[in-house]
Amino acid sequence: MLLATLLVSACGRKAVVTELSIVPEPVFLVQKEGSFALHNNPKVSVVGLGQNSATVKYIMKSLRHAHLRPKLVTAAEASDIALVLYDTVNPELGDEGYLLEVRGTGITLRANSEVGIFYAYQTLVQMMPHDATEVVYSSVTLPECTVLDHPRFAWRGVHLDVSRHFFGSKFVKKYLDVMATYKMNRFHFHLTDDHGWRLPSEHYPLLNSVGSWRVDREDQPWGQAEPPREGERASYGGYYSREELEEIVQYAADRGIEVVPEVDIPGHASAILASYPELACDEGPYEVAIGPYWPPKAILCAGNDSTLAFLRTVLDEVCDIFPSRYIHLGGDEAFKDNWLQCPRCQQRMREEHLKDVGELQAWLMGQMQQYLASKGRIMIGWDELMERGGGTWSFEGATYDNNPHVDNSAVVMSWRGLKPGLTAARMGHKVIMCPTEYCYLDYYQADRRYQPAAIGGLVTLQKAYEFDPAPMGTNLHVEANVLGGQCNLWTEYIRTPQHAEYMLLPRLLAISESLWTPRERKDWARFRRKVEVQKERLALRGYNYCEGSFTPQFTARRVDEGTTNIAISTEVPNTYIFYTTDLSTPTRESNIYLGPINLARGTHIKILPVYKDIERDSVYEFVIK
Ligand code: ACM
Ligand code: ZN
Repeated sequence: MLLATLLVSACGRKAVVTELSIVPEPVFLVQKEGSFALHNNPKVSVVGLGQNSATVKYIMKSLRHAHLRPKLVTAAEASDIALVLYDTVNPELGDEGYLLEVRGTGITLRANSEVGIFYAYQTLVQMMPHDATEVVYSSVTLPECTVLDHPRFAWRGVHLDVSRHFFGSKFVKKYLDVMATYKMNRFHFHLTDDHGWRLPSEHYPLLNSVGSWRVDREDQPWGQAEPPREGERASYGGYYSREELEEIVQYAADRGIEVVPEVDIPGHASAILASYPELACDEGPYEVAIGPYWPPKAILCAGNDSTLAFLRTVLDEVCDIFPSRYIHLGGDEAFKDNWLQCPRCQQRMREEHLKDVGELQAWLMGQMQQYLASKGRIMIGWDELMERGGGTWSFEGATYDNNPHVDNSAVVMSWRGLKPGLTAARMGHKVIMCPTEYCYLDYYQADRRYQPAAIGGLVTLQKAYEFDPAPMGTNLHVEANVLGGQCNLWTEYIRTPQHAEYMLLPRLLAISESLWTPRERKDWARFRRKVEVQKERLALRGYNYCEGSFTPQFTARRVDEGTTNIAISTEVPNTYIFYTTDLSTPTRESNIYLGPINLARGTHIKILPVYKDIERDSVYEFVIK
């Protein structure tokens, strides 16, 4: 068992940690016999990094937040916690790895980089009692141990759509905090879409006065939002100020996270075209979209030079605010019907010798890639980027050749399965994997009959845990081009921070372990137990989360002609299963499942899961075959 167990004596309030529960699971962890008692005024020494560095400041603040009274001492003095940056690189640890040692004499965190020290500290925090932020212990006794750790993938991303619903910077920071806890290092900020433009613009002010606002239908289900009435005021939305974005970038950087902004072009452009209809192929009119806007036909005119000038200026503004190496330009789900009819788009195709509207999109993305490259930035696109051409809708008739207009320095984000990413990787692109079936956190996570409305699909915690961006058998040359993966949180159905957290957690933990931990160290049985411990931590830190899927899972074994032996479980440990086989509705008075049972074929079994003393969902019914 790896669950953290604590012995807390009531009077002295000393905590003794005997078992460790770290997410993501470290590469190497050994626990030893001895222990170290961390009292509540620890001395902290720092070697190789400045006492005013972001990481040291973060650690001191975090210790104080845990009601400790840490004191910085010189490196020469004895300390309880030593933060040590190697002066010669330790090749085993790489850029983000660390070595954490708890010995009888103290705790040492070593790394090649500040972020490595930061991650070592995150691991140390997870070793501490989960209520250490709430309760003053006179000391916490930790087991002697060694943790040597480094990530499997360099790109460990989390996406947030702030267009469909707008989330203020306070929540964005809370989101970054939980990302950092689980060692995620890229924040994909989906800032523009049909439903609202969230970037500040000096050069194109209508993007903010018009494009950031839509008619408020928050009182209606997303799927049934009424269209706007004549003259109705657009009052839902908003946008970030430049200062807020700069603060977010700094806040993220202090936690080892790079903010990667996305401006989605050429489709998903309603908010742009509502602001500047002259950038469309036709007369419009266009509105900032409300509710299910599908197909998303609003598309920028690729034949109009003003469109390219607009995009270059917007990218100048974006690059001014965001120092990230990568800028995401979307490119997904562009419906190109308008381009077929538009004389300017047709003219562009003749001039540039483009065979169809699919290739016109490929060309436009290529133009923007070149512009970003001239500014020293790398373009990311959704996997449509690989399409050389095709029809008006990317899912029809696209050819998955290498797009000749975009060079291999463009990074491909693979969302329609792993295959487009693996194809791109084979062609020499770097790729980021976020296939819908494992990584779309806007999908349901449990039986939809008992969940808040979501966009569809099903990604249980267990499914998310099966995510592998480079599965066994991927050829090594291809695997080298897989930067990593990420989970995506689209917010059509997510209106509040609490709901966003509910969809993110705990599935984020599964994605984190899938991206950090070596494949052979992943262990679903251990992970699901660790999630139970992490849920308590998350609750104490004020995060909402989903308890998981209570859908019964069966393992069946034939005993004889008429009898089947079944084992029943759910994804969530410590779920009690009550059942009946006489067609009556199960209650907590019914049979309790204690282990595999023999049932006659044709038996109708009804199951009631109970977890934390609450009846979960409703009754599940199955017939034994
Ligand atoms: C996407 O989900 N449209 C990238
Ligand atoms: Zn056009």
